[in-house]
Amino acid sequence: MIELAPSILSADFARLADNVQAVADGGATLVHVDVMDGHFVPNITIGPPVVASLRKVTRLPLDVHLMIENPDEFIPAFVDAGADWISVHQEACKHLHRTLELIRHHGANPGVVINPATPVQTLGEVLEMVDHVLVMSVDPGFGGQKFIPASLDKVRKLATMRTAKRANFRIEIDGGVDVDTIAECVRAGVEILVAGNAVFGQGDPRENTQRLLKLAAEATLQRV
Ligand code: DX5
Ligand code: ZN
Repeated sequence: MIELAPSILSADFARLADNVQAVADGGATLVHVDVMDGHFVPNITIGPPVVASLRKVTRLPLDVHLMIENPDEFIPAFVDAGADWISVHQEACKHLHRTLELIRHHGANPGVVINPATPVQTLGEVLEMVDHVLVMSVDPGFGGQKFIPASLDKVRKLATMRTAKRANFRIEIDGGVDVDTIAECVRAGVEILVAGNAVFGQGDPRENTQRLLKLAAEATLQRV
């Protein structure tokens, strides 16, 4: 199943509930929440209180993408706030195995994220532990950046590794997904598409969600 996860990074933070309702009405089945600490990435966004507020206004699963150092220190707070999925960067974790176990232990779905410069082979030993692998198709820190096409090779490699290992994780992509890039992501094997600017940047978030999902569905018919 192909899912769209609108990233609230590009939403109107004073009207988050309305924005999330709009994308749910448009067919979004996840809400992507970007957490940045000003250390791991050169930007600061939100923390557990905003996740707790979102939890009260939507039943959609909250897909929390931690772009922070020392994620172990904050995982319990994000789970308590209502995070359903938590993904951590391979580059931010000294003990990635331990961190993924911690997420599972606290009752959230663990995911691992890799930056554009990080090879998929670095995930070989943890693929059986995660529910999703998030491939960054921009360098993390900001919305509205240009899609890096080489990310699609990483998606294809991950799909091959999944088959070889008989693993079950889903493949998610994040960064620069829009009406021009979404179809090639789906054809490469992406199952969960994060989109911020393309959903909330301009126009109506509900209609933008519908349009992106329609393009994604059409692209599934062209998968090779
Ligand atoms: C970037 C974030 C993304 C971002 C994507 O660091 O992880 O989730 O919101 O934004 P767009 O879709 O605008 O590239
Ligand atoms: Zn993200």
